[in-house]
Amino acid sequence: MEKELSSIHYDKYLQLNKILAAQKLRSAEFGTEAHDEMLFIIIHQVYELWFKEIIHDLNSVIAIFKPEVVEESQIGVAISRLDRIAKIQKILVDQIDIIETMTPLDFLDFRNYLLPASGFQSFQFRQLEVSLGLKRDNRISYTQCAYSGVFSQKEQDILNEIEEGDSLFDLVEKWLERIPFLKFETFDFLSEYQIAVDKMIAIEQKAINEAHYITAQEKHFRLQMLNESSKYFKTIFDEELHNEKIANGDLKLSYKATISTLLINLYRDEPILRQPFLFLQKLIDIDELLTTWRNRHAQMVLRTLGQKIGTGGSSGFDYLKKTADKHRIFYDLHNISTLLIPRSELPKMPETLKKKLNFNFSN
Ligand code: HEM
Repeated sequence: MEKELSSIHYDKYLQLNKILAAQKLRSAEFGTEAHDEMLFIIIHQVYELWFKEIIHDLNSVIAIFKPEVVEESQIGVAISRLDRIAKIQKILVDQIDIIETMTPLDFLDFRNYLLPASGFQSFQFRQLEVSLGLKRDNRISYTQCAYSGVFSQKEQDILNEIEEGDSLFDLVEKWLERIPFLKFETFDFLSEYQIAVDKMIAIEQKAINEAHYITAQEKHFRLQMLNESSKYFKTIFDEELHNEKIANGDLKLSYKATISTLLINLYRDEPILRQPFLFLQKLIDIDELLTTWRNRHAQMVLRTLGQKIGTGGSSGFDYLKKTADKHRIFYDLHNISTLLIPRSELPKMPETLKKKLNFNFSN
């Protein structure tokens, strides 16, 4: 039987009685109320609420990419959800300004009452990292114990299940590997691209050799630098080398997925590749904003604690700073920019392929 619709009051709908009763100052409990503990509690609660919304949206994007065939009409939905996540992340970064209004001395008024509570125990933050694709082996360890050891058995099981399943990174990688058009009739994208790259490097070499305004020593130096940057291109033409870099931990994205990403980036102006391009851009936004948050949080910790160790037992600032570099998930998507060549040098696609990449609304 259908439930009868009844009216509801604002307070009840939002369960404000629970939310607004959830700010219990430990300092007050121990008889020395610290004014800024209210801000400290509220800001963490607000973060956790936004984490909840982010995970809700992220899970819906993961669900879109789970099937073997991703429905094309859903890519637009995925882009909007990722865009919302990125907008929330901007707020999360900005909120650090608010916590920074609390001075180090104000914090010391109640810090001892928090021990050993720490951001390390934010289950939702770990859930977010793992769902995006951060793997256990790629984490910076701060003790001999697993990062998940601070959680209940039930929570650890959930984290393990997410980690063993498909993260957003895994699903996007598989989707990229399935993208067609790398070889189409007589068009072999990679060999055409190699010709264009060789031509571009030869033009740059010639320009340096023929420049009259630099000394022979400077020429030598610039040619050496050009040679160094050309090495980046070697990996894209050599699957074995690419796989070696994956094994060393220098790269994460598979060879095939990397080539598809390159194709999408180079031919982004073709109508059918526009949505995949925007989707990849959103992943880069999210990765960049998470790194920005990590850096801002680390800076805030430095100014609040200096070199003091964290309540969770890490080295504090030093540990957090390292996570900003090491815990990136979509780093390989950023690095595709190294491999881009000017539009004027792009290999021409055969007309039949160009037609396939068009929406064909008109003749
Ligand atoms: C005065 C404010 C803050 C201080 C001094 C502080 C300090 C720290 C320190 C020292 C750590 C390293 C772990 C440890 O040893 O405890 C840490 C981790 C963390 N904090 Fe904060 N924090 C503050 C505010 C916040 C806020 C507002 C959030 C929002 C949720 C937050 C979320 C986290 C998270 C998620 C981690 C784990 C990071 C990782 O392992 O990558 N912190 N915090």
